[in-house]
Amino acid sequence: MTQSHAPAADPCCFVIFGASGDLTSRLLLPALYNLAATGLLPERFAIVGVARSVHTADEFRQELLDALQAHATQDVDPQLAEWLVAHVAYVSGSVDDPETFSKLTATLEEIEPTAGTQGNRLFYLAMPPDTFEPIARHLARAGLSQEGNSGGSWRRVVVEKPFGRDLASARALNRALLEVLTEDQIYRIDHYLGKETVQNILLLRFANGLFEPIWNRNHIDHVQITVAETVNVERRGRFYDRTGALRDMVPNHLFQLLALIAMEPPARFEAERVRNAKAEALEAIRIPGEAEALANSVRGQYRAGRVHDEPVVAYRDAEHVAPSSVTETYAALRLEVDNWRWAGVPFYLRTGKALSARRTEVAIKFKQAPISMFEQTSVDHLGQNFLVLRIQPNEGITLRFNAKVPGPVLAAESVDMTFKYKDHFDVAPSTGYETLIYDCMMGDALHFQRADGVEAGWAVVQPFLDAWARDGAKGLEFYPAGSSGPEEAGFLLARDGRRWRTID
Ligand code: BG6
Repeated sequence: MTQSHAPAADPCCFVIFGASGDLTSRLLLPALYNLAATGLLPERFAIVGVARSVHTADEFRQELLDALQAHATQDVDPQLAEWLVAHVAYVSGSVDDPETFSKLTATLEEIEPTAGTQGNRLFYLAMPPDTFEPIARHLARAGLSQEGNSGGSWRRVVVEKPFGRDLASARALNRALLEVLTEDQIYRIDHYLGKETVQNILLLRFANGLFEPIWNRNHIDHVQITVAETVNVERRGRFYDRTGALRDMVPNHLFQLLALIAMEPPARFEAERVRNAKAEALEAIRIPGEAEALANSVRGQYRAGRVHDEPVVAYRDAEHVAPSSVTETYAALRLEVDNWRWAGVPFYLRTGKALSARRTEVAIKFKQAPISMFEQTSVDHLGQNFLVLRIQPNEGITLRFNAKVPGPVLAAESVDMTFKYKDHFDVAPSTGYETLIYDCMMGDALHFQRADGVEAGWAVVQPFLDAWARDGAKGLEFYPAGSSGPEEAGFLLARDGRRWRTID
């Protein structure tokens, strides 16, 4: 892995709550390793793991080394791995117990002077959402998250998703966190914002003079945002059955994509400006009444089928899922953004599990040529102009346009002009958490969600949640695992004279 040109992050102590959990071993640790490998971790650095399991620090270090072997995105250099775990301390205890925070204080006071981390602390809450508030309160009570006590050192708290399960709970969580922390201490993660291809949307739009003049209702017919997954609910039934596709994916990942596409150009590439522009875009989404929400949405659940030739049991037969569950594993919405740039341009969003292909993309459909001056073809036969941002897999950008078919008969055919990241950039595989962790250590919140953006997202989703809850089993459609979702999702576009792009 090549060294980065960016400076190493600020000296700091990285405190992980949920240190023996899945997120730590699968993502955080490999990401920290990748940062170390590119020279982005500070020399003056320490990791403190907090978890309930009773371990010695040595056992914990061994656990981390094993996790790194299992989940690293690159070959592990034993020396670098040893360096990383040599900086590790461990506090065992429950996050409900004030004693854990006293132990954490003692550990930090012991290691900070030798580690030289200058009192800078990053608290990463890799824990279930119901612990966010109590942990933040305990940190505050113990004086651990207070800034300015120790000569200008910073204290930051990273909160994982889900951030609330509806508008009321998201508001309550924001309020509770803001009682004990300031907004600029809170880093709400949406891992989609760590993806290079997602960050590139800002570059594509605002580092090129080419797109912005046509990025509006005069030239754009509609936008399709798709997050199709082949994975099924697997062993997450307990969480997923009370969550569903809408809550799990839309107010966070899909709305982040929507905001980046719809936002106005910020005056500067700076966290508050960018987040203002994104929040405004989300606030401009029309909030439907319940009847309108029903008419503009489709929800589905997968039945048994085959994905990539592997059998998949019906969602209702999955572990920890209620046999008569009406939880959706697929959601499609038609939204409108009520502002001068987007009035009358529908945004169609869809996401689902156990589909035929994995594909995350934003497809921008441009308006047809106003007339066809070609004899052998008519406007109706001309292919559509799409700009497709492929977020994953096969990361890249494709522009689809019409070209002349060679030969004496005048005819047009759709062709693609394609840019693929892997052809152009030598990108080492990453977890997607590297830039987010680095940014947080550097105090750059641009790629994190702010309270207003989170609440604006939930405000849009709320009427859909309410309408679906009231509708119960009635409006739930079924689709076989391995298909492209319920047929009814097609009607959302068909009635506007449009159709979804195929996902495979
Ligand atoms: C998570 C959801 O936030 O995102 C999962 O909880 C989903 O259900 C995942 O599978 C998708 O992330 P990615 O990066 O694989 O598109």
